Amino acid sequence: MSPKKKTAKTSIRLVKGMKDILPTEQHIWDFVRSRVESVARDYGFMRIDTPIVEFTQLFKKATGEETDIVSKEMYSFVDQSGDRLSLRPEGTPGVIRAYIEHGMLNQPQPVKMFYIGPQFRHDKPQAGRYRQFWQFGFEAVGDADPIVDAQIIAMNYNILRDLGLDIEVQINSIGDKHCRPKYFKALTQYYKNKKKDLCVDCTKRLLKNPLRLLDCKVKGCQELAEEAPQMVDYLCEDCNKHFTTVLEYLDEAEVKYNLNPKIVRGLDYYTRTTWEIVESNQDGKLQALGGGGRYDELVKLLGGRETPAIGFAMGMERIINKIKEKEVVLPEVWRPDVYLAQLGIEARRKSLKLFMDLRQGGLTVSEDFSKNGLKDQLELANKKNARYVLILGQKELVDGTILIRDMESGVQETVDHKKVVKEVHKRLASKMNDKSLKIKTTKKV
Ligand code: HAM
Repeated sequence: MSPKKKTAKTSIRLVKGMKDILPTEQHIWDFVRSRVESVARDYGFMRIDTPIVEFTQLFKKATGEETDIVSKEMYSFVDQSGDRLSLRPEGTPGVIRAYIEHGMLNQPQPVKMFYIGPQFRHDKPQAGRYRQFWQFGFEAVGDADPIVDAQIIAMNYNILRDLGLDIEVQINSIGDKHCRPKYFKALTQYYKNKKKDLCVDCTKRLLKNPLRLLDCKVKGCQELAEEAPQMVDYLCEDCNKHFTTVLEYLDEAEVKYNLNPKIVRGLDYYTRTTWEIVESNQDGKLQALGGGGRYDELVKLLGGRETPAIGFAMGMERIINKIKEKEVVLPEVWRPDVYLAQLGIEARRKSLKLFMDLRQGGLTVSEDFSKNGLKDQLELANKKNARYVLILGQKELVDGTILIRDMESGVQETVDHKKVVKEVHKRLASKMNDKSLKIKTTKKV
C-alpha cells in the first residue's frame, strides 16, 4: 500500500452528526449571537452558562424518561467516580436546576435568563439535524401571567424576523394537570381500535403518554392524528382563559400565528401554551427553527417550590442555514479602521510596536506582516474592507512620518508618525458625520 493511501485510510475524521464551524462562517454566527444578546439586553434577560455535563437523573426527571430525547438520544456515561452523567440534550433542565440551587426563588420574580451553547442528541443525522448542535434559549421563571407568554413569543418571533427570516408561529395549549387527564382518556379511547395501524413506538406511547402520538413522524400515525380529539376542546376554564388571553395579546402585538393542535412538543414538562416557529424548506416542507412553552410544574418537580415558568430555544445551525439559503444581507460585524502595511525589513520591525500602539489607541487594526509588496498588502486591505491603510516604508522611517491612504477615495496624506493615532481618529470622526459613506456598511453572506 502506498504511504498516501495509508494516510487516507487511517486519518481521523469528524464524528458522524457533528459539524465544524469554519472561520468563513464565523461572521454569521457572530451576527446571530450579537442579535440574540442585544434582544436579551432590551428585554432584561441575563446570561447564564450551565455545564454541558449534568447528572443523568436531571434529564430523566425534567425532560422525561419516556421521551425520545432521554430514552434514545442521550450521550450518557459513568465517570471515574462512578457518577452517572449525560451531555445535556437541552438547556432548560440545567437552568432550572441552577435557579433552585442558587436560591433564585428569593430574588424578585420573574428571573429572566438566556443562554447560548451546544447541546447533544444521538439522533439520525440529516439536513438541519446534528448530534451536536447549538441552541440559544430564553427562560422566564416566576410569572404565570399570560402577558408573559405573549411577550416571550413576540420576542422569539422578532428575533427571527429581525434576522431576515420569513417565519410563522404555530401555537397550541396542552392544558394542565387538571384538564389533561380527561383529554388523555378521550385520546386513548380514540386510538383504542386503531392500535394495529400505529407504529411500534406509538403503541408504547399510548400507554405512557398518548399526547406523544400526535407529533409522531410516521405517515400512518400522522393520518390518524388528523382526526384525533383536540386538547383545546378539553381545556378547563382557567387554561382556556389563559390561552385566549395569550392569543388576544398576540393579535394586539401583530404576531402572525396559526393554531396547530399537534404542537404538543417532545418534552414532558410543558403545561398550557406551547409553540413552534417554523419556516418552509427549499422542498416546501416546514422545518421547526425552534419551540417552547410554559412549564409551570418543573421547578417543583426538581425540588423547588411551586413556580410558574416559560421559555423557548432555537436551533442555531438551522437559523444559520436559513440565513445562508436566503442570502440575508448582514451588517458588517467587524471592519478594521486601519490596515498596517510595511515595506522593508526595518519598517517591519517598527510595525510590531506601531500595531500595539494603534490598538492601545482604540483602533481596530489588521495586518499581514509576512507580506512585503505594497500591491499585495493593498489588495488584502481591500479584501478586509479596511477604512484606511497606513504605509510605513524606508522614506517614512527616515522622516519620522507615515502615509495614510483613504481606501474609499484613494487620497494619501503624510502625517507625523507620533500623531498617527490622533490623525486616524480625526478622519474616522469626520467619516462618521458623512452620511453618504455610512451606506457602505453591509455586504452579502
Ligand atoms: P426542542 O424543540 O427540543 O426544545 O429544541 C429547540 C430547537 O432546537 C428545535 O426547534 C431545533 O431548531 C433545534 N434542534 C433540536 N434538535 C436538533 C438537532 N438534532 N440538530 C439541530 N437542531 C436541533 C428544547 O430544547 C426546549 N429546551 C425548549 C424550551 C426552552 N422550552 C422551554 N424553554
